Amino acid sequence: MTSLLLTGIGSLVTNDPTYGSVDGAALGEIRDAAIVIEGSRFAWVGARRDAPAADGSVDVGGRAVIPGFVDSHSHLVFAGDRAQEFAARMTGTPYSAGGIRTTVAATREASDDQLTANVARLVTEMRRQGTTTVEIKSGYGLTTLDESRALAIASSYTDDTTYLGAHVVPAEFADDPAGYVDLVTGPMLAAAAPHAKWVDVFVERGAFDADQARAILRAGAEKGLGLRVHANQLGEGPGVQLACELGAAAADHCTHLSDADVDALAASGVVAGLLPAVEFSTRSPYPDARRLIDAGVTVALATDCNPGSGYSSSMPLCIALAVREMRMTPAEALWSATAGGALSLRRDDVGRIKPGARADLAVLDAPSYLHLAYRPGVPLVTHTFVAGRQA
Ligand code: NIG
Ligand code: FE
Repeated sequence: MTSLLLTGIGSLVTNDPTYGSVDGAALGEIRDAAIVIEGSRFAWVGARRDAPAADGSVDVGGRAVIPGFVDSHSHLVFAGDRAQEFAARMTGTPYSAGGIRTTVAATREASDDQLTANVARLVTEMRRQGTTTVEIKSGYGLTTLDESRALAIASSYTDDTTYLGAHVVPAEFADDPAGYVDLVTGPMLAAAAPHAKWVDVFVERGAFDADQARAILRAGAEKGLGLRVHANQLGEGPGVQLACELGAAAADHCTHLSDADVDALAASGVVAGLLPAVEFSTRSPYPDARRLIDAGVTVALATDCNPGSGYSSSMPLCIALAVREMRMTPAEALWSATAGGALSLRRDDVGRIKPGARADLAVLDAPSYLHLAYRPGVPLVTHTFVAGRQA
């Protein structure tokens, strides 16, 4: 196995608490650092002066190196776009779950090749911005065939595929939502489960209520899928409590929370996924990250990249918004976009730079991770490595 020494790292964020904390986050920052990659894994991490020899060596000239971003929530399998819906929102039309049906119609019409090309394009976009792990949901097919093909396509790009047959009730079941829940928990689940690691439900007025969601999540769990929930996005509701009751890995959105919701998240250890590109693109109030962190809740940041509520693939944008609009420190925001995302996906092989972990990283054209929030909108990522290879 060949080894590569990356040296001349001005600031290395490891997320290894042995190297200390900054501004409320266990970033484990090492100055003037080096890394050795062997094959697909990190083999050595430490101060440059202690670095061992390796087969090859690259000096990054004082740049910052961070763990690759772990984007724990996205909807990349779709066709078409909803630019007109976005334009209407910017002149006052509120966002509603109903727009999902527009994308469902376009996605059903699309060929496998068209859907695959769209996922490939968006994953490439993400890699360029430093994302090395991405969770991808189905949810724009909503038939047995269309959900299972969406997951089969997604599984070529990630191990973290999520079955979201319960995104909305499709038009053809408008008069029979119970019939749709039977389909989602029956034949559709059976066809989707071989391609899925997770099951998710959009718990919201206009989508699914607590009883429907409980039935769908339990059915998924019986097939061996882990649980995730779209919770409390457009208003207060039962999503967060349900995620805590069922021991889900993640309750994502968490924009409208009662005190009881915050307490339940803190007590259960369910990771709260915050998706600020959605509030940006729907011109809505941001979730209160400070309230969650101060209560002891583990927070992940993710893009939620989708054609409706927020069409950004950029984790650096999410970090900048979280710092500017949600009162997270730059260190907390970076931790949540890397280690927090890994916890949301219950993975310990990504989200950190540590011997044994998968060699995923991003090199920044900046002396420190602080520039991610300090220089919003600037493409700072110069190189992305996934499993030891430049992506
Ligand atoms: O996470 N909330 C539900 N699903 C997506 C939106 C999907 C859409 O509008 O197409 C979300 O925001
Ligand atoms: Fe989503």
